[in-house]
Amino acid sequence: MCAVAASEVSLDPTVQSFVGEPRKMLIGGQWVAAESGKTFEIYNPATAEVIGHAQSADASDVDKAVKAARKAFDEGPWTRMSPSERQKIVWRIGELIDENTEKLAQLESLDNGKPISVARAADVPMSADMFRYMAGWATKLDGKSISPSVVYAPGAEWHAYSRREPVGVCAQIIPWNFPLLMEAWKLAPALATGNCVVMKLAEETPLSGLFLAELMQQAGLPDGVVNMLTGFGETAGAPLAAHPGADKVAFTGSTEVGKLIVNASQNDLKRVSLELGGKSPNIILNDCDVEKAIAGAANAIFFNGGQCCTAGSRLFVQEGVYDEIVEGLANYARGIKLGPGLDPETQMGPLVSQTQLERVTGYLESGKAQGARAASGGGRHGDTGYFVDPTVLVDVQDNMKVYQEEIFGPVVAATKFKDFDDDLIRRANDTVYGLASGIWTQDISKAHKLAARIRAGTVWVNTYNIFDPSLPFGGYKQSGWGREMGEKVLDHYLEHKTVCVGL
Ligand code: NAI
Ligand code: MG
Repeated sequence: MCAVAASEVSLDPTVQSFVGEPRKMLIGGQWVAAESGKTFEIYNPATAEVIGHAQSADASDVDKAVKAARKAFDEGPWTRMSPSERQKIVWRIGELIDENTEKLAQLESLDNGKPISVARAADVPMSADMFRYMAGWATKLDGKSISPSVVYAPGAEWHAYSRREPVGVCAQIIPWNFPLLMEAWKLAPALATGNCVVMKLAEETPLSGLFLAELMQQAGLPDGVVNMLTGFGETAGAPLAAHPGADKVAFTGSTEVGKLIVNASQNDLKRVSLELGGKSPNIILNDCDVEKAIAGAANAIFFNGGQCCTAGSRLFVQEGVYDEIVEGLANYARGIKLGPGLDPETQMGPLVSQTQLERVTGYLESGKAQGARAASGGGRHGDTGYFVDPTVLVDVQDNMKVYQEEIFGPVVAATKFKDFDDDLIRRANDTVYGLASGIWTQDISKAHKLAARIRAGTVWVNTYNIFDPSLPFGGYKQSGWGREMGEKVLDHYLEHKTVCVGL
């Protein structure tokens, strides 16, 4: 039984039993244990207590899952369904997510630590919406009719066209910061385009994905089309990324592991898409709407406890508003209500794990040692669970680790600049990453000039952390390869075939 405090929402009975019983994995339509018999513990990050167990897949389970996906791909019925039939199933998955909002939100909050209010309002509905958006594409994957000239065969005629066909078996490896949403981002486009999938969930957060797999069965997804594995990166993720039976690997996580994925794909030249880390610049100009900029800068770094690849973790503030912004942001940070995710009043939950707690507090120590000062927060919050106080670091220099490396916690490094000039743009771009960026100004000319010169996949103007299935998302430089969402993502999951007919 998973105990919750009086201030927390009482758990749905389905959620209680789902968490309380050891979870199995879905392979070829069957719920199975790991062949090794090994399981691992699932923690509540608000208390550090063990709340459940999941299977620890290794290479032999991965092999079974890839074979099941291969069989489903090669033999149908999924791959022989009409686009409209596929569309209905993908749409139905979205509907079932909506119908199970409270259960999914509770699972997500319990597993990841995020505020239930956020899971209900954002993670769950956005995931449902992703399936519905992608469902629409299933019936619109048309090729082109092409008119070749063929200069070396004058007078001859051809009819040529292109077809868009699924890549095949897709290995998908996802992280723990938005478990359900990452499942949706990866699964929805893969399914809408007719692929089969082996997904490995993050070891920190296996629950919502296993529940989603049940919903997918209910939606009528044939056996083997989605195989859902739980396990660790080295023992389950690595053999999946390297498996010769997978045609593609899609990964979201650290840049470090992204590079390992690229290496693992070398033997058989799998298609690879990567959504990796970030150290995104958020730039506030003197002419901004100060109140909105403060709230926006806070949302940019403190949303999801800063465990966002897009986190606006380098804050550049022009000197005319610097003091006001930093003070406002520090006040905002002090006002954020920390607590267990399942408490409806909670605004920021714990970090996901002991490892992340140590990582983030380690960065805070290193920042202080290098001369940065905390205008708010600065360390662990309380002594139970994995909480860190929302922190605004000032007196930050560009060469500090806290300024250069992805912290993945509620820690922003604020720096001052004098003019809106080339040097500001150089500093904003002076990072190995290029995922996101923000600018706060009332001057549309400056906004567009900056938007064009930032080397990042997304630029938010007078807003931050806005996502939609229609908006392509991904990184420049070491933030990744390719784009998720929007029409753009379809290219990752489709091959283009040229058919040329001599007439
Ligand atoms: P990670 O990159 O190690 O884990 C992400 C996923 O990759 C998990 O499913 C994990 O099991 C899997 N994985 C790990 N090693 C693998 C391997 N050798 N082969 C295949 N799969 C493997 O990230 P982790 O350790 O959870 O967090 C470390 C840091 O990574 C964070 O502090 C943050 O900076 C960054 N990160 C970035 C994310 C993003 O959204 N871009 C998400 C999670 C972490
Ligand atoms: Mg790792």
